[in-house]
Amino acid sequence: MSFPLVRHRRLRRTAALRSLVRETVLNREDLIYPIFVTEGSNVKDEIASMPGVYHFSLDRLEEEVRDVVDTGVQAVLLFGVPESKDAEGTPAYDPNGIVQKAIRKVKGWAPELVVIADTCLCQFTDHGHCGVIHHHAVTGDAEVANDASLELLVKAAVSQAEAGADIIAPSNMMDGFVHAIREGLDANGFEQIPILSYSVKYASAFYGPFRDAAHSTPQFGDRKTYQMDPANLREALREAESDIQEGADMLMVKPALAYLDVIRMLKENFDLPLAAYNVSAEYSMVKAAAANGWIDERAIVMELLTGMKRAGADLIITYHAKDAARWIK
Ligand code: PBG
Repeated sequence: MSFPLVRHRRLRRTAALRSLVRETVLNREDLIYPIFVTEGSNVKDEIASMPGVYHFSLDRLEEEVRDVVDTGVQAVLLFGVPESKDAEGTPAYDPNGIVQKAIRKVKGWAPELVVIADTCLCQFTDHGHCGVIHHHAVTGDAEVANDASLELLVKAAVSQAEAGADIIAPSNMMDGFVHAIREGLDANGFEQIPILSYSVKYASAFYGPFRDAAHSTPQFGDRKTYQMDPANLREALREAESDIQEGADMLMVKPALAYLDVIRMLKENFDLPLAAYNVSAEYSMVKAAAANGWIDERAIVMELLTGMKRAGADLIITYHAKDAARWIK
């Protein structure tokens, strides 16, 4: 009988040995928590498909912000659900829009908390697209107009920076959005405000629960003319390259779970901080299975988030952030 020459189990024998050789450690500092803010008063409404995630009116937001700070999470990503919408997404760049008001409040309550503003138009347009709609001169088909949308996006970003946002995160996938926003921010004295670009954002079915929550489902067509085809990997390099040329400070891959190879590839090719967005349906699937008693929620969440970090994410935007931070503690 011959004995194994190599014994992998030696380093797995005790918890202390395992932690000594652990390669990936998830920190509270890696996590970013998304928050949905809405008009009205005394609103704390749970989003049906996202148990544990709520719409907050501004008068109920402080308790949530204090809770986030209490967990040790250092950054939040704000999404606004406005009262009214129009074709140009005007409430997205209203200095008194819901997001702008929320940013001022949050910075007042928790000046140290990093406030990231999602910069997009889809929650604010009545047609639900991430830009303005033009009609093709010949066919009459509705198209999301790239350059006309950029101007509005810049206005939104500048108004968010004026309100006190620490980071601008453009998510609408128009070509040139990073360059346009960088110029707009710099021209208004915000040259110190970084841009976290949703560089590689796929046209994904995993945004479904978010769109219910943010009331941002497109009223016609889909987002496939501006978000990426889930089948493509090399195209992600081109998206990231152009964002870096345009002045992005951080990159993002979204969604995360079905795109760990994309995260790994960006990590190997670029040296900018890299965020992964663990999106709404990834959260909903875990919550649904946990509610049925089919999985161990805590173990599954920690394994998923650790997997995203191991793949190469420096930062993870996740609806599990508060829970995970508490578990890490
Ligand atoms: C806005 C935006 C979306 C998400 C983040 N920002 C929706 C979309 O692109 O349709 C999705 C986030 C999630 O699913 O958790 N463009």
